[in-house]
Parts: sequence; C-alpha cells; structure tokens
Amino acid sequence: TKKTDVTLNINGQTHNVSVEPRRTLADAIREDCGQTGTHIGCEHGVCGACTVLIEGVPARSCLMFAVQADGKAIRTVEGLAEGGKLHPLQQAFMDCHGLQCGFCTPGFLMLATGVLEREPDISDEDLVDVLSSNLCRCTGYQNIIKAVRMAAEQMRSS
Ligand code: FES
Ligand code: FES
Repeated sequence: TKKTDVTLNINGQTHNVSVEPRRTLADAIREDCGQTGTHIGCEHGVCGACTVLIEGVPARSCLMFAVQADGKAIRTVEGLAEGGKLHPLQQAFMDCHGLQCGFCTPGFLMLATGVLEREPDISDEDLVDVLSSNLCRCTGYQNIIKAVRMAAEQMRSS
C-alpha cells in the first residue's frame, strides 16, 4: 500500500512519519513514534485506554487514523508531568490509590485532563458520568473518581 507522510506533533515534539492510510493513530503513536504510554485495549472504541488529547479534546486514538491527526497538537500521558513534577491528576491517582494494574490509567488521566481543562467547574454528577465512559477492570471506580475530584479542586485553586 502507498504510504503517506504525516507530521504528528506529540507533546510539542514533531514526528515525521510515513504511514499506510489505514494505520490507526494509536499504533502510530506507539510504534512509529515510540510513545508507548498510550495503551491499547479493545481497539474498537469501547474501553478508552487509548484516549489522547487532540487540540485539547479527548479522543480515542484507536478510532482515528494517523492521517487524520496530521499537523494537529496531540497530547499523551508522557506530556503530563512537567519539570520533574507530576501533574496534579497523576499525584492524586497515586495519593487516592486510583490505580491497580494501571492499564487503564493513561486513558483516564488524559480524559480527565481534557475535561478539567475545558470545564474546571464541572459538576460532580457530570464528572462521574464522563469518567464512566472509560473502562477499569480493577478499581471499582471509587478511587478514580476520588482522585479526579481531588485534582479538580487543586487545579481550581492553583
Ligand atoms: Fe481504544 Fe479501547 S483501545 S477505546
Ligand atoms: Fe487495572 Fe484500571 S487499574 S484496569
């Protein structure tokens, strides 16, 4: 198949890659750009493990083709910590035991980041609703929700 040149801008870094048109963004991020923090679970849009931000909006990277993200600003879990300091959400997931196996965690972190950046005053009900769109097989969600609530408070007051 003919390959297409695309520019993937991941966490402010430019990756020039050549991909088949059907290559998913998730595979391109992990395999062509070596950023394996984004996880792939179901590969058909159900679990949310592969969630990244595209221009600030959460997107399931297994449902997108790499060519659709050409030139757009992509953010992944690798870009969350800054200057050796964990992002408030990462810290809160640790403090509240919001992860067990951790497979779902990058997706939750990116989903929550996208939501809290756009809607810092989101209601608790809406927050729980949004988070229920991603799947976690381990935690029972209580601690994930607790962690995101705690980070939301911190992000509002900083
Ligand atoms: Fe993309 Fe499950 S791997 S939603
Ligand atoms: Fe294991 Fe969520 S911590 S799937």
